[in-house]
Amino acid sequence: DEAPLKNLKEGSSLVTPPEEHKKSNDNDDKSTVSITVVGASGDLAKKKIFPALFALYYEDCLPKHFTIFGYARSKMTDAELRNMVRKTLTCRIDKRENCGEKMEEFLSRCFYQSGQYDSEENFEELDKKLKEHEAGRVSNRLFYLSIPPNIFVNAVKCATLSATSANGWTRVIVEKPFGRDSESSAALTSALKQYLEEDQIFRIDHYLGKELIENLSVLRFSNLIFEPLWSRQYIRNVQLIFSEDFGTEGRGGYFDHYGIIRDIMQNHLLQILAIFAMETPVSLDAEDIRNEKVKVLRSMMPLRADDVVIGQYKSHTKGGVSYPGYTDDKTVPNDSLTPTFAAAALFINNARWDGVPFLMKAGKALHNRRAEIRVQFRHVPGNLYNRSFGTDLDRATNELVIRVQPDEAIYLKINNKVPGLGMRLDRSNLNLLYKARYSKEIPCAYERLLLDAIEGERRLFIRSDELDAAWSLFTPLLKELDEKKIIPEYYPYGSRGPVGAHYLAAKYNVKWG
Ligand code: NDP
Ligand code: BG6
Repeated sequence: DEAPLKNLKEGSSLVTPPEEHKKSNDNDDKSTVSITVVGASGDLAKKKIFPALFALYYEDCLPKHFTIFGYARSKMTDAELRNMVRKTLTCRIDKRENCGEKMEEFLSRCFYQSGQYDSEENFEELDKKLKEHEAGRVSNRLFYLSIPPNIFVNAVKCATLSATSANGWTRVIVEKPFGRDSESSAALTSALKQYLEEDQIFRIDHYLGKELIENLSVLRFSNLIFEPLWSRQYIRNVQLIFSEDFGTEGRGGYFDHYGIIRDIMQNHLLQILAIFAMETPVSLDAEDIRNEKVKVLRSMMPLRADDVVIGQYKSHTKGGVSYPGYTDDKTVPNDSLTPTFAAAALFINNARWDGVPFLMKAGKALHNRRAEIRVQFRHVPGNLYNRSFGTDLDRATNELVIRVQPDEAIYLKINNKVPGLGMRLDRSNLNLLYKARYSKEIPCAYERLLLDAIEGERRLFIRSDELDAAWSLFTPLLKELDEKKIIPEYYPYGSRGPVGAHYLAAKYNVKWG
C-alpha cells in the first residue's frame, strides 16, 4: 500500500480541486483502478454507489484507466447491469451539458460478474476479467462490500485470496453495521484482519462524508471567533439530532436486529460528537485526526440507562391517511421491543467538556427529516439588558446551529435591537444558507468517501480503535436494555417522539431545539 499512498497524499481530495484531479489522472497512464461493487444487485449499490461513481466520473475525478465491476449472486449480463444502473443515474442540476453522453461513456466501463460470496473460484473468474481490463498496467483494486454483514468475512476471504492485486494496492470498503456490540465487532475486526491489514480496511460512516460535517473542523479551527468559546466555559449543552419522517419501510428485517441506537447513535451521531469535541489535531493527516477523535471517545463517561429514553412508533391516521406502526411490518415480530427512537445524555470526562451535556436524539417516523448540531451557549453574565428590560433569559442566549440536512446551513442566533426609537430586543439569525451562498450542488457523501478510498485518504474512515471505543460506550447500555426487556415509549407515526425525551433534557436544564 505504501508507494501509491505517497503519491496520492499529494493529490488527496483534501487539497486538490477537481481540475487538478483531472490533470493528474490524465498523466497516469501506467496504473489502473478496478472498483468491484460486491452486492451490486442491492439497494445501496443502486441508490448510492453507482450514482456516486458516475458523479465522480462526470467531474473527471476518476483515474484515466478505471473499470467498475458489479458482483452478486443474481444472474445478469453486462447489458442488464448497465440498464439497471442507467435508471439510477442523474445529472447535477448545474452540470447537464453532455450528461447523456457521459452516462453512456461511464456505463461502457461497467461490467458484471455473477458469483457466490463464499466461492474462491467465482472470485478467481472475477480476477481473470479484471486482469483483462487492467491490460498489464499496475493494478489497484477497490472492493466495496455492499452486502449484509453476515457475509462480509466470506466475501473478504474469497476476494483477497483470489482477486488481490499482484502489483498495486487492494482496499476494501466495509459498510456498517460493524457488529452489534463490543464482542461481535471485535470478532469481525479480527476475522477481517486475517486477510487484510488495518490500512486496507475502509470502514465507512457516510455521515463523515457529508459537507457540513467536513466543514465542522474548518468552522472551528479556521475562525478565531469559535475555538476560544468551544468549551464548558461558554457552552451550556450540545445537541445532536437525527430525525426521519419515514419509518423503517423495507428495511424492517435488518432494523429489528439493530435498533436506532446501533443504527444511528453509536456511529453517525457519536462520530459527529467526536469531531465536534476533539482537541486541535497536530495536522490534517488522517492519523492525527483519528488520534484526537479516539481520545474523545475514550474519555466518555459510562452511559447510564436513566440517561436514556427509548421509543417505538405506532400506527397513526392523519388527514384520512393511515401510517403503519413499526410492528405492522411483516418482517418485524409483533412483540418487538426494538427502539425506533432514542434520546441520551452523554458526558465527556475531560477538562474541556466536564459537566456539559451532549444530548443525542435519533428517531424514525417523526414529524420532520433533519440532521443538526445545536450548540447552546451560556447566559451573558450580569447581562445589562436582562437587568434593564427583564428579557427572558432563555431567549437571550446564543445558539449556533449547524444544519447538516436538508437545506444545509450554519446560523447563529443572536440578540439584536429592533430598529427604531426605544429599546426592544429581538432574536435574529446570522445565516449562512448554502443554497443562497453557493450555486454548486453539494456532492453526495458517498462521492467524497469513494474518492478518498481510491486515493488512500483515511481521515473520514473509522479506525478499529475508534470502533472499539464507540462500542465500549454503548454495549453495556444495549445489554441492559435487552436483558431487562425495557419497554419503549410508544409514539404516533409523524409525531415529535416520546415526551420522555423532553423530561430527559429538562433534567439537564435543556430544551430541545
Ligand atoms: P441488500 O439487502 O439490498 O443486499 C445487497 C445484496 O446482497 C443483495 O442484492 C443480494 O444480492 C445480496 N444478499 C442479500 N441478502 C443476502 C443473504 N442473506 N445472503 C447472501 N447474499 C445476500 O442490502 P443493501 O444494499 O440495503 O445494503 C448493503 C450494506 O450496506 C448492508 O451492510 C447495509 O447494512 C449497509 N447499508 C445500507 C444502507 C441502505 O440505505 N440500503 C444504508 C447504510 C448502510 P444477490 O442476491 O444478487 O447476491
Ligand atoms: C443509515 C441508516 O446509516 O443512514 C438508515 O442505516 C438511515 O436507517 C440512513 O435512514 C440515513 O442516511 P441519510 O444520509 O439519508 O441521512
